[in-house]
Amino acid sequence: MSREIELPPGVLQPREAVLRMQPYSPPTSGRLGKVRLDFNENTIGASPRVIEALLEYLTEERLAVYPEYRAAKQELAAFFGVEPEDFILTNGTDEAIQVLINTYVDDGDEVVSLQPSYAMYRFYAEVAGAEVREIPYRREKLAFPLEELLDAISPVTRAVLISNPNNPTGTGTSRAGIERVLEKATNAAVLIDEAYYEFSGVTTLGLINDYPNLFVSRTFSKVYGMAGMRIGCLFSQSENVEFLHKAQSPYSVNTVATVAARAAVQDTAFVEKYVTEVLAARELLYVGLEELGIPYYESKANFVLFDAGERAVFIRDELRAQGVLVRDRSYEIPGCVRVTVGTRDQVRRFLKELREIW
Ligand SMILES: Cc1ncc(COP(=O)(O)O)c(C=O)c1O
Repeated sequence: MSREIELPPGVLQPREAVLRMQPYSPPTSGRLGKVRLDFNENTIGASPRVIEALLEYLTEERLAVYPEYRAAKQELAAFFGVEPEDFILTNGTDEAIQVLINTYVDDGDEVVSLQPSYAMYRFYAEVAGAEVREIPYRREKLAFPLEELLDAISPVTRAVLISNPNNPTGTGTSRAGIERVLEKATNAAVLIDEAYYEFSGVTTLGLINDYPNLFVSRTFSKVYGMAGMRIGCLFSQSENVEFLHKAQSPYSVNTVATVAARAAVQDTAFVEKYVTEVLAARELLYVGLEELGIPYYESKANFVLFDAGERAVFIRDELRAQGVLVRDRSYEIPGCVRVTVGTRDQVRRFLKELREIW
């Protein structure tokens, strides 16, 4: 394949796949102290028990030692109801996607994902030099395009990357729908990214030993309030996990993150309380949007996409000027802005600012 992009003299030629990629830079600076409704994080922060565990753990010597994963794997396995051999710890879901692709996808292979969806599926597939085929969410209600996806999957498909519920649409699909995908995609690694599972309650984790092509990821970045820690898990049947291990860097998850994750899963009350708060706040948000006559898409997650018409970027910028951060998604779904659902108080604040500018 010939290179179409001219490099300045003296610049080392990168791989063709990297040369072709669009740069990706999430707008992630200066967010502390603002009402963070832009990244679907936990908007009140991590459990205090996580902070306590970290403070108690940190000593000079412990930081000097390379990570040891045994205890963390045992405790997390018990929490997730699997065996320690059924998963790898990952540096966030992002590394889970990367390791899955490094394990199963070669240069030129076909990867199927949905559109719009989490940007990192395309990112890692492109870095690997794969051909990415994207199936659009249905226009009406942004529903999961099951039949269209099934039609797109063929014996040459090497990976299928699905987020359930999906970001940024907020829509989800059933376990039965995913089983149909698994039955069709017999030559592919099928990733079900369950970053927002706690809000939807729909999971395929219990199916890893029924489908040899099923991979499920979970993260501590969302409901657990630990996005800065970069830790998650990638589950599959143990035979697959051995290969994932081979393709993963041995110490990509740091010790401090494992300590935080161990403490986080102890505090189930914290997670339950936060989920209950978010679900109540989401109802409040729907009512507020309806009062303003703003169309929105019903969500299974802790964020909602609403239609700001021609003014998506304006709304985002005006809200930011008032200290409320939301995400413009109009470049992929015309007119749409995504707002993370936090507490009811945060939703009230968002609605108050929105009313002023609407
Ligand atoms: C669907 C989905 N998966 C994964 C992530 C990020 O996960 P992590 O922080 O674990 O890499 C996000 C964050 O926005 C997401 O929306």
